[in-house]
Amino acid sequence: MRIIINPNRSKGTINRNIYGHFAEHLGRCIYGGLYVGEDSSIPNVNGMRTDVVEALKALNIPVLRWPGGCFADTYHWQDGIGPLEGRKTIVNTNWGGVTEDNRFGTHEFMELCRQLGCQPYLSGNVGSGTVQEFSDWVEYCNMGGVSPMADLRRQNGREEPWNVKYWGIGNEAWGCGGNMRPEYYADLCRRYATYLRNYDDGHKIYKIASGANVDDYEWTRVVAERAGSTIDALSLHYYTLPNDDWQHKGAATEFPMSEYCSVIHKALRMDELVSRHGLELRRADPGGRLGLVVDEWGTWYDVEPGTNPGFLYQQNAMRDALVAAVNLNIFNDHCDTVVMANIAQTVNVLQAMVLTEGAKMLRTPTYHVFEMYKGHQGARQLETYAETRIVDLGGGMDFPDIHVSASEAADGSILLTAANLDPERPAPVECLLDGLKSGSAVTGRVLAGRPGAHNTFDAPDAVIPAAVENIRVEDGKFAAQLPPCAVAAFTIRL
Ligand code: AHR
Repeated sequence: MRIIINPNRSKGTINRNIYGHFAEHLGRCIYGGLYVGEDSSIPNVNGMRTDVVEALKALNIPVLRWPGGCFADTYHWQDGIGPLEGRKTIVNTNWGGVTEDNRFGTHEFMELCRQLGCQPYLSGNVGSGTVQEFSDWVEYCNMGGVSPMADLRRQNGREEPWNVKYWGIGNEAWGCGGNMRPEYYADLCRRYATYLRNYDDGHKIYKIASGANVDDYEWTRVVAERAGSTIDALSLHYYTLPNDDWQHKGAATEFPMSEYCSVIHKALRMDELVSRHGLELRRADPGGRLGLVVDEWGTWYDVEPGTNPGFLYQQNAMRDALVAAVNLNIFNDHCDTVVMANIAQTVNVLQAMVLTEGAKMLRTPTYHVFEMYKGHQGARQLETYAETRIVDLGGGMDFPDIHVSASEAADGSILLTAANLDPERPAPVECLLDGLKSGSAVTGRVLAGRPGAHNTFDAPDAVIPAAVENIRVEDGKFAAQLPPCAVAAFTIRL
């Protein structure tokens, strides 16, 4: 099968933020996963788990979205600042009805971002908050001079503003964020956007409107048309479920082949969603100023047996690695539209990078895909074409076997990422690239295993990348073999 890389055609730079993440006050994502508190016996720096932070740092996370999700529209940021003993204890009504004592608030989140070396993306409360409350949060974070909120921040130990760039104007306003109609939300969004001020001309804020669910193009059309001039981007949420029945979504590691096929088939749908929402944005904004922010995506299964249904804790297998590869390839190839994406969620929730159990931690197959793909961040997207076979295992959920994207880094090296979605057959591939010489260096790493293969706390390295053997390089092309159910990353130095 041939893959063609065309180094002469590009849609532009792949925004680093496409490799963004999302961490909500949900289950054990923040508490126990990212944050254990300074007094924990689990090694930590200022309360952040050292093992998790070190693992995540290797992914070069560009941006982290917080505090929700649905939680964001019940979150009152002032509950989470100041001395711990004075912080309000609330009920997390969205996620299991558990007690939320606000130990982890704005200052702790900023400290986490500092340790990870990433930008914060704060999702503000529109559903149950007020314009004043949201506007005060921006002032608290970004005002460098004298003002009530800047003074309060200083009182809480932070002299300099954080200059937070990315602000989400509510979350899922069509659902848990207020059950609004697009017309109503568009007006509300304009109002909120008016009072989210820039406090420093050198640090303009970037306003992201709550966008559509899946294929609700009408939402994007109305919000872009009516509120587009007041914002910088609209979001999109799309999760990949094996079955559409939310009560029986399907399991993460033990699943029938029909559910393997439905997950891959549905993951590929992201291409159509991004294209069509992108068209709606361009209709309202022909100049291309408005971006698309896919700030929630990933797989969503039934929770692991015996765990709290409200905590959304699921395992993560090779099938998830393929879903990650497909989505990231799609975002790369739509880099003229997709300006940010945030996988849900970083730790212990949905399609996580790492899972923890007490002091133990494991890296998931999805983690390894993000690590293998990190060279695409900020690189120049290159046009690719793949000859494919259709994998049709019945059930009407067919898909092409090979899925690729490529980019050129500042140093001239080319990264080709390729997934073999066929769960049974290996794929011999021949990659054509002008300028390749028989003496050029081509190296590859591959993550492979049966669709349900995963890492456990007892065997945390059962699924890890290995070197691709027997890469044959000739003038103008190289050849290699992809195992079934595999994600590969090739680095080409001409
Ligand atoms: O990521 C879990 C939830 O999924 C988020 O809180 C919500 O925005 C979405 O429905």
